[in-house]
Amino acid sequence: MFLHLRISIAISLILFQPSYLGGSISWLKWPHSNQVRFTYRLTWEKGTGPCGHNCSFSNLYIKGTVPPSLSSMQWKCISGCNPAMTLSDINTILTSFSEQSAGWEQGENHFFHINPGTNRYTVRLDGIQWAVPASGPGRLVTTIDLRVRNDSTLPNASPVAAVQPTVGIPFGCPTTITLPVEDPDGDNLQAREAYPDECGGACTSLPKFILKPTLGQLIIDATTMNGYKAGESYRVTLMIEDYPTYTIKIGNDTVTPRHSISKIPLQFTVKVIDNPSSCDNTDMTFAYPTLEDGHRISYPGFIKYGKFRNGVYVESKLSKSHRPSYSTSTGTDP
Ligand SMILES: *[C@@H]1O[C@H](CO)[C@@H](O)[C@H](O)[C@H]1NC(C)=O
Ligand SMILES: *[C@@H]1O[C@H](CO)[C@@H](O)[C@H](O)[C@H]1NC(C)=O
Ligand SMILES: *[C@@H]1O[C@H](CO)[C@@H](O)[C@H](O)[C@H]1NC(C)=O
Repeated sequence: MFLHLRISIAISLILFQPSYLGGSISWLKWPHSNQVRFTYRLTWEKGTGPCGHNCSFSNLYIKGTVPPSLSSMQWKCISGCNPAMTLSDINTILTSFSEQSAGWEQGENHFFHINPGTNRYTVRLDGIQWAVPASGPGRLVTTIDLRVRNDSTLPNASPVAAVQPTVGIPFGCPTTITLPVEDPDGDNLQAREAYPDECGGACTSLPKFILKPTLGQLIIDATTMNGYKAGESYRVTLMIEDYPTYTIKIGNDTVTPRHSISKIPLQFTVKVIDNPSSCDNTDMTFAYPTLEDGHRISYPGFIKYGKFRNGVYVESKLSKSHRPSYSTSTGTDP
């Protein structure tokens, strides 16, 4: 009996090795409370995440179940909280998935954390098993600073990134990927590569690329000469930081437009798709954007800059997917 149980667990671990494809986390001080709301999105190879082995339409907008293989993964406050503590598991509400058998599932969820009093802390998710082979487990990290800014007389809110489930780019052609990021405070955003302490043993694996930090563009010329192979997938691990447009005060600190206020991770997988056509006329399409663009209801409290861009899913025409409709996830708002 026990043996049987152990064998079936072993089999399910082999068959459903968690395969992470990307993710992000953002935060904002919740109005009229001493809490911060964290919102995270995670993408997995279909059937390996919280959606379950038989991930389908019927799971859409429903909270999943954390599989045993992912139960040790938890969002933790690793500094600034005394003591360090666990804040949440990684369960999500399924927001979109691909119909292909070997596709992806993407989910979103949020948790609250009471300000530990230090006003500044770091939240991290460790032990991420990427689908793209890596030298070690990956990591997602964000820094929180709840001190009041003198321009808005409110605490800062972090940038927000819509994570593409997968980004398909044509082999042999140059592609510009525009990073889907926005800032609720209207700050300037910059993208940079994550440092090893921000992405663990699984950092960017693109052989060659150009990152335009202020434009938020990633330019990839996926040629053999640049080290790319058709059919191969590559990891992208970036950090998005917000910079004030002019010098402000945050708490007692002066922050110039050259100093970032906070940082969030943006990680995704780029798949190089064999491209039978010419680069001028590829079979690629920018599945842009979701129908619900501009209706980011799950981040209320920002009437001033109230429009959020939702998922911008860049895909091959060959792979069909279901567009997420985020309005349903507001059902879990307090
Ligand atoms: C999986 O989902 C399909 C389609 O919804 C359904 O027909 C099938 O019975 C499900 N299988 C299991 C094991 O739940
Ligand atoms: C905020 O602080 C900066 C730097 O001290 C100052 O230049 C600016 O005028 C202040 N803004 C407001 C709205 O008080
Ligand atoms: C900020 O400055 C004020 C006035 O100088 C001081 O009373 C306060 O303790 C300082 N706060 C911090 C967190 O340093």
